[in-house]
Amino acid sequence: MKINKVVVIGSGTMGSGIAAHLCNANIPVTLLDLTTEISQKAKDRIFKSKPPLLIDKSKIDGIKIGNINDDFKEVEDADWIVEAVVERIDIKHDIYKKIFYSRKKNTIVSSNTSSIPISVLSEKLSEEDKKDFCITHFFNPVRYMGLLEIVKSEISDLNKINYLKQFCEHELGKGAIICNDTPGFLGNRIGVYAMQVAMTEAFKMNLSIEEADAVFGRPMGIPKTGVFGLYDLIGIDLMSDVLKSFIKELNENDPFQKVAKEIPLITKLINDGYTGRKGKGGFYRMSKLENKKILEAINLETGEYAPSKKIELGIEKVDLGSLINRKDKFGEYAWSVISKIIEYSSSLVPGITDKFNDIDEAMRLGFNWSMGPFEMLKSIGVENFFKKSGEIKENIFLKNLYKSKDENFYGERQLYTDIETLGKIKPKALKIDKNKSAEIFRFKDFNIVEFTTKACALDYDSMDALKNATDKPLIIINESMQFSAGVNLKYTMDFVKKNDFKSIEKFIKYFQQTCKHLKYSKHPVISAPSGLVLGGGEEVAIQSNFVVSHTNIVMGLVETGVGVVPAGGGCKEVLWRWSQTEEAKKDPDYAPMQVFNIIGYAKTATSTVEALPLKFLRSEDKKVMNRNSLFEESKKLIYENMHFKPPQECTFKLPGKPLKEKMIRSLDKLYNDKIILDHGIKVGTELANVLSGGDTSIERVLSEEDIYKLELESFMTLIETKQTQDRINHTLATGKPLIN
Ligand code: NAI
Repeated sequence: MKINKVVVIGSGTMGSGIAAHLCNANIPVTLLDLTTEISQKAKDRIFKSKPPLLIDKSKIDGIKIGNINDDFKEVEDADWIVEAVVERIDIKHDIYKKIFYSRKKNTIVSSNTSSIPISVLSEKLSEEDKKDFCITHFFNPVRYMGLLEIVKSEISDLNKINYLKQFCEHELGKGAIICNDTPGFLGNRIGVYAMQVAMTEAFKMNLSIEEADAVFGRPMGIPKTGVFGLYDLIGIDLMSDVLKSFIKELNENDPFQKVAKEIPLITKLINDGYTGRKGKGGFYRMSKLENKKILEAINLETGEYAPSKKIELGIEKVDLGSLINRKDKFGEYAWSVISKIIEYSSSLVPGITDKFNDIDEAMRLGFNWSMGPFEMLKSIGVENFFKKSGEIKENIFLKNLYKSKDENFYGERQLYTDIETLGKIKPKALKIDKNKSAEIFRFKDFNIVEFTTKACALDYDSMDALKNATDKPLIIINESMQFSAGVNLKYTMDFVKKNDFKSIEKFIKYFQQTCKHLKYSKHPVISAPSGLVLGGGEEVAIQSNFVVSHTNIVMGLVETGVGVVPAGGGCKEVLWRWSQTEEAKKDPDYAPMQVFNIIGYAKTATSTVEALPLKFLRSEDKKVMNRNSLFEESKKLIYENMHFKPPQECTFKLPGKPLKEKMIRSLDKLYNDKIILDHGIKVGTELANVLSGGDTSIERVLSEEDIYKLELESFMTLIETKQTQDRINHTLATGKPLIN
């Protein structure tokens, strides 16, 4: 079978997200709802969505729309029909009746339900039709969430299920995990349980919501929204419905029942309209105090709001062993929550899955955890875990592990996919070096560098790892979400605080040398970005010989946003790309002016498609939908380039002063129109200095080294100003992505 056309029924949050993503994969799709007006609104929402659901907005008309009365014939020639209507069984049953009456024989029909068992959904279907029915549980937002749970029944046609899995992995780029028909499937069963445990333990242990979120967040390898923040994001009312469904579906002895009961404060919040971010606020709310917006947090005991307090735990990296052994309430809370998550997850093996690693992958892909429960156990260590917990007799998995004390219990990761992923390779590769910011692996006859800092922010050590790894072909790739959010601003500001500008200069020079080395070393260097590819991160990518990029990226040279200019070769490399255009050959100002606008406005691309016209990516760079494929595609490039020759060094013909003055005139206009302020002029002038080739009054030819020098000078001029330092401090304090 082959999927050439899909019909999605229900154009709400999920239906529109699924249709948009099929459009991303160039699969013809029709979106139907009760009326065409509703589907049209969904299409408008897709077009305006932020972050964008479409990789390429110009493809929006790849989504056809209609209504379920006049346009149901669309179902007749569809190969896959996805139902994504409201979570009401009567409505879903009616829709299935119509679908199975109209569909071609053998087509796949699936539901996106998050809570109704397949046995209930399909109870009115014939035995034949049941074979073609399954649940495809996408996560919101569909383009960005890696997980897709494909839930099969006992009589599902496994050929079809496997075909669908392959299709969703390769065409839609999802991490498709097949699971059995159990309440909440894999991800939500553990994810919601974890949230409930984190919440109930916070109540029990008298932690404030900020304290709980500070622990149940980055220190545990969980997104920083924490538990109460996540509740607000999802919607407190929606969570309440989800819990009711779990209470109904799960066995009464299931430990989930203990943590699923509605807490009086939550009932009160919902009744008062405090349903989270979509409502008046939730556990957190924005308030106005003396005309200033401030974030307030609720007191779990009194229900009163007070200004939210920032909790500093002094933790830089995920280290569960240290976290659970802290002799303070945070350590106690962490242990209590983590141990319960591990116990509960273990109790589901082999009941809901014998591949316990699939639970971990579901948590990584569906909840953005950096480790799943079993990886947490592995990271704590079996011996250490049982030292604290004692023997656990109730569940088979932990009972056996207690006996064997097998620290290597884990086996292989990412069994759910055939793709040769970085996660699968790392345990087989030789770790040849490691510093506090990166790790170097040797696999076969090439090297892999993985950044390991928060948001993969770059510092001297990251550069050291890159430089040391170029003795072989090199792939720069990370398992964590981001390729790199740029240079570590805190690292830079620590030098500023000590007035040690010499060290900053030394670092920038090393950054430049390293990037130059990446570009010209005798072995090919491949960057495989996904997520944030900003500032210094983009400078590394753009100066690699090849790029294999995930389609979901946020890419740009955003340095001017914090009051500096790109100084690791970013200005130089983008300028070089623009100077290769036909227009640039006719007009010497063309390329520098284009780059002046791109970097000056800190333009970013939110997809590979948007990165092309900015020349952050080239047409020959590879673009892949499945993040898991980044490694495999990069590896292919190494073998395709066995006789690699580094590129020729480039030179730049730049007009000097006349162009610089032209650029400054455009800044003056922006200043007069109040688009930029005093410091904007200063930053823009420095950028103009770099891109025009400096203050010479005649056109001259500059080497790459010359431009690196101009970048460095301008960077140093700016970093020494109080205004730039204030901007960087502001970025650090507001917790926005670290940008260079
Ligand atoms: P929604 O409320 O945003 O959209 C539902 C859509 O169904 C509406 O546009 C409505 O007009 C349409 N609809 C209702 N009756 C219909 C009918 N008879 N024929 C055609 N269209 C009809 O709902 P949402 O959030 O998109 O959820 C859809 C499904 O996805 C549900 O089963 C839900 O459990 C599941 N789900 C939701 C997630 C979420 O985050 N919102 C995540 C994963 C699954």
